[in-house]
Amino acid sequence: MAPARGLRAWWASVTFGTRHPGRRVASLGILGAISGVGEAVVVLLLVALVARDGGGLPALVPDAGTWSLAALALVAVGALAAAHLGSAWIAARAAADAQRSLQLMLLDAFLRASWQTQHSSPPGELQELVTAKARLAVNGTADAAKAVATTATLLILVAVAILVDIRATAALIAVIAFAVLVARPFQARTRRIAVRTAAASSQLAGRVADTARLAADLRIFGVGDRAREGLAGSVGATARLARQIHLSANATPALTRDATLAVLVVAMAIVVTSADVSLTVLGATVVLLLRALSHAQVLSSTLHRLADRWANLAPIMERLEAWRPAAEPGRRRCPQIGAVQLRDVSVAYAPGAPDALAAASLVVAAGEQLGVVGPTGAGKSTLAATLLGLITPREGSVLVDGVPLAELDPADWHARVAWVSQDPLLLTGTVRENIRFLRPHVDDAAVERAAKAAVLGADVAGWADGLDHAVGPAGSALSGGQRQRVALARALAGDPQLVVLDEPTSALDVHTEVAVRETLAALRGRAIVVVIAHRLSTVNLCDRVAVMRAGRVVALGDPRELAERDPYFREALALSASAPAART
Ligand SMILES: Nc1ncnc2c1ncn2[C@@H]1O[C@H](COP(=O)(O)OP(=O)(O)O)[C@@H](O)[C@H]1O
Ligand SMILES: [Mg+2]
Repeated sequence: MAPARGLRAWWASVTFGTRHPGRRVASLGILGAISGVGEAVVVLLLVALVARDGGGLPALVPDAGTWSLAALALVAVGALAAAHLGSAWIAARAAADAQRSLQLMLLDAFLRASWQTQHSSPPGELQELVTAKARLAVNGTADAAKAVATTATLLILVAVAILVDIRATAALIAVIAFAVLVARPFQARTRRIAVRTAAASSQLAGRVADTARLAADLRIFGVGDRAREGLAGSVGATARLARQIHLSANATPALTRDATLAVLVVAMAIVVTSADVSLTVLGATVVLLLRALSHAQVLSSTLHRLADRWANLAPIMERLEAWRPAAEPGRRRCPQIGAVQLRDVSVAYAPGAPDALAAASLVVAAGEQLGVVGPTGAGKSTLAATLLGLITPREGSVLVDGVPLAELDPADWHARVAWVSQDPLLLTGTVRENIRFLRPHVDDAAVERAAKAAVLGADVAGWADGLDHAVGPAGSALSGGQRQRVALARALAGDPQLVVLDEPTSALDVHTEVAVRETLAALRGRAIVVVIAHRLSTVNLCDRVAVMRAGRVVALGDPRELAERDPYFREALALSASAPAART
């Protein structure tokens, strides 16, 4: 079971991204065999040349003069070199293909995974897998390719040795078998350490990502040194494992070589004492033996390194499996978004966790502007994410004009919806790039209109390069309010038919509040707007308001009417406003 799995994984890693894996491995085998033949021929010619006597050697050594033998040997060396170059070229191609396809597979799988899966991925995990583990995993692909060629060479050398002398070959095979046997327990040990190293380095990557993200907070709270101590612990653990890996990787081939040499001495003694062998035949056998031995060593250290690569490949395979979406994407076209309905929708963030939405129901009519209020933790952001199709409900359904959202073509749906999340994140780039947000159909005119509608005019005028102003790494060079308005402009720029604004004025900035009013006015009648708000001034602009509490919609109606008669509404507004920027 385990060897079969290992073999499958090995094959998968040799053949990643190769269009004709069988052909590639076969070519390596053939080139390896050519190397073997070339090498054997060179050895035999060399022995015949030195001994001035081809007697006792196979017929393939001609009876010729010294220079003819030397010329033939040089031709064989040429063929040998060409075969080596060819197999190196194939191995390099295999490794490069493997790296590219492994990295793309990881990125594709992550981007296609459900949002809940993406959201629960530890910080730094994807970066680590794509940039570090994928490269470590394919490092061994060239090694695996080399192992194929080396094995073929070895087999040919053994075949030639049989032709030369069957008894000496028995000794040869014993030596090679011994080399492989001696290395086996060491390989198992390396593999165990490699698995632990891969886990430790993932943990370190997570801590490093956290440290980078929280740099300001660590400083303000004066706990930088503590964080460093924690990191030093992780760094130390990975260093200890690295020492063990290097030790076993460096010592194993050398020790295997020494042990094999000892067996070689004994084997030779037995051959010499038990049989009458000519000096030429013995010379040829010894040289063939030594060549085969060096290939066996290469094979052994290659297999050793492959253990390390497997440890990095395993977590990648695991993630690829875990990120696979549970359901096929829908295929129904969605030319127009009319009414959107939540019908008895329950959402839990983890199996067995309390419901963040508990049988919530709501209908938003075409063109309607709906306010959502409620204390923090009431489920407002969860409702927003569910409405947009980021979260798949545990129970109940989201219907778009009566059609389940899951049945709609995601490309169609996402071309027509937009949001401003509670904590807007920006790309590292310019304001223009952030408003366009990789959508080629959003032209410069659309970007400018959206910036204006999101009340970014004064800010843009203030920046020397206007819309081409750099927002800094992940938007860090903008104020919270500016970030929110850029995110608002991004939402407006694609002419969406459904816009969800999650606490768009949480940055407590007057311009942003004006921007939200402008946005609501601009979108009136053109799009459904769901705005999660904690200010009466925003909520009052809406057609209706939903009051949420503990995952349910507990009141729904005209905002002025609710303000007068509904205690929940007044309480919810008060509670929300008291923690305006809470991230829950
Ligand atoms: N990613 C998450 N994982 C687990 N629980 C979450 C997650 N996001 C929100 N919750 C929980 O779900 C509930 C509703 O949260 P949320 O919808 O963000 O509330 P609101 O936006 O109204 O403040 C809260 O109890 C919150 O702790
Ligand atoms: Mg929220």
